[in-house]
Amino acid sequence: MVTSNRSRVVIVGTGSVGSAVASAIVQQGLCNELVIVGHHPNKAQGLAMDLADGLEFLGRFVTIRAGNWEDCRHADVVVVAAGPKPKPGETRMQELGAAIDIVDPILRRVRDSGFDGILIMVSNPVDVLSWFAWKRTGLPRAQVFGSGAALDTARLKTIIGETTRLDPRLVSGYVIGEHGDSQFVPWSTVSFIGKSFAQYLADNHSRYPGVTLAGIEESTRRRGLDIKGLRGGTSYGIAATVAGLVRTILWNERSVVSVSTLIDGEYEYGEHDVFLSLPVALDGGGVGDFVDLHLSGEELVKFHVSAEVVRRHCSLIADRL
Ligand SMILES: NC(=O)c1ccc[n+]([C@@H]2O[C@H](COP(=O)([O-])OP(=O)(O)OC[C@H]3O[C@@H](n4cnc5c(N)ncnc54)[C@H](O)[C@@H]3O)[C@@H](O)[C@H]2O)c1
Repeated sequence: MVTSNRSRVVIVGTGSVGSAVASAIVQQGLCNELVIVGHHPNKAQGLAMDLADGLEFLGRFVTIRAGNWEDCRHADVVVVAAGPKPKPGETRMQELGAAIDIVDPILRRVRDSGFDGILIMVSNPVDVLSWFAWKRTGLPRAQVFGSGAALDTARLKTIIGETTRLDPRLVSGYVIGEHGDSQFVPWSTVSFIGKSFAQYLADNHSRYPGVTLAGIEESTRRRGLDIKGLRGGTSYGIAATVAGLVRTILWNERSVVSVSTLIDGEYEYGEHDVFLSLPVALDGGGVGDFVDLHLSGEELVKFHVSAEVVRRHCSLIADRL
């Protein structure tokens, strides 16, 4: 008798992001069963049917269905992608008041289901809500994280790829800190075809006139806002990112990604009780070892600024706990 590996992913939220994440997971055949839980049951049902209609042409069969909170109990991964529709021009932190009213009841239901898998927060402001989710669910720190700067890291690579007209996957490096205005690139960690990217740029200055590290970093930071201005919101980049995180977990890949995780005294970072993005090893157990980036003094100052911003916003919702 074959023992099937019944991996189950639950997605909470059927909006632009939830739908795109569901589609990316199904297209890549990452799990055995995908369950969609939505505020509007009809939308969840419709999304499940719509996704299932393409199964004949996909590489791997996935059972797709609408579900309810009880389905979280035996889920390996729950992705929370519900929240207020981000308004053009509004910062992620400005979404906090509306977001917490939506996300807190969701987290209570996930907790009450008996869920003991890996919880991925996508709703913004993602660092603040990941901290809140960790506190609200009582899950071990390894089992709760936010997509955080994984998307910003992918954006940085895309921009370097667009600038150099080379494959973005040749870039190794990370965006860290807040998924928001205070995020930054520790350039000493960024390498490209065998050397530091800073060195690559210096060596090829005449081929890329006007291109600077600061300019690339600012374009990375602004990219979400730019996309929102152009098409009203973002969905496919975050969907590919979350699918990548799900794959790393379910396939136990031990990839190293910059996700929003509890920082509690690791290395020189000198921060406690705050969720920020740093590169960590991700596998079937969730967040594993940290990487010691040996940040410079200037970079550590930026990291503490991110911590301060996130902590200040956490304090605004701490009385709900
Ligand atoms: N982390 C990232 O990088 C990233 C990127 C893009 C968007 N986001 C965030 O994802 C979230 C969703 O964005 P979107 O563009 O899909 O928005 P959307 O408006 O298209 O969808 C919002 C979803 O939230 C659900 N929802 C709204 N009110 C609810 C309630 N009271 N209870 C339960 N569910 C409720 C809706 O039913 C819908 O499924 C937002 O918080 C957004 O900021 C995060």
